[in-house]
Amino acid sequence: MKVLLVNGSPHKKGCTFTALTEVAETLNKEEIDTEIFWVGTKPLVGCTACMKCIEIGCCSFNDCVNDFLDIVPDADGFIFGSPVHYAAASGAITSFMDRVFYADLLGGRQSFYLKPAAAVISARRAGTTATFDQINKYFTISEMPIISSRYWNMVHGAKPEDVKKDLEGLQTMRVLARNMAWFLKCKEAGTKAGVPFPAREEGIFTNFIRE
Ligand SMILES: Cc1cc2nc3c(=O)[nH]c(=O)nc-3n(C[C@H](O)[C@H](O)[C@H](O)COP(=O)(O)O)c2cc1C
Repeated sequence: MKVLLVNGSPHKKGCTFTALTEVAETLNKEEIDTEIFWVGTKPLVGCTACMKCIEIGCCSFNDCVNDFLDIVPDADGFIFGSPVHYAAASGAITSFMDRVFYADLLGGRQSFYLKPAAAVISARRAGTTATFDQINKYFTISEMPIISSRYWNMVHGAKPEDVKKDLEGLQTMRVLARNMAWFLKCKEAGTKAGVPFPAREEGIFTNFIRE
């Protein structure tokens, strides 16, 4: 089994990476494979609502969003990490997740369905819980079980050395990883035992309009 961890920071090996690494190393100890996917520092356009994903099954902007969509089907769980930028998720991870989740759904992939996920947030000081709420919303609209820890998943620091001193934050990452591993093993055992996926319904889109 494999968990993909997304680093939504402009820093390849900064604070968010340090938190994700704590999660990844703990998952590895639980015999879960991991890969850290960095969104990079190239400009990441937001969703332009061109709707081409409906036809082509991926995003019309061929950048790291499509690279990520290609590896999503082989992953069993996801961690999306972001630094706090102005009390919210980074612009890059917001553009990235808008386009990943929209293209996945409208492109007919639905490769996140019932796969567990969690958000990991890094900040110098404030805006962590608002950012945590923001990222969790992608999971709850995508039928993804959210894995929790013993605190909201955050670390504090302006540089990786600070994060390494945030002992409670790092423990929160390890507990999160073990809970993710446990869930994945239970899901695998349930599937092997023949527990079927839930019955699904066609989507109903009323847009609040009633005639
Ligand atoms: C544009 C920008 C805005 C930021 N806004 C906040 C903020 O609102 N609250 C905060 O605590 N830290 C803020 N920070 C600091 C980062 O969130 C913090 O240093 C984080 O741990 C950096 O993670 P990274 O090394 O993975 O990029 C901001 C940093 C940048 C570059």
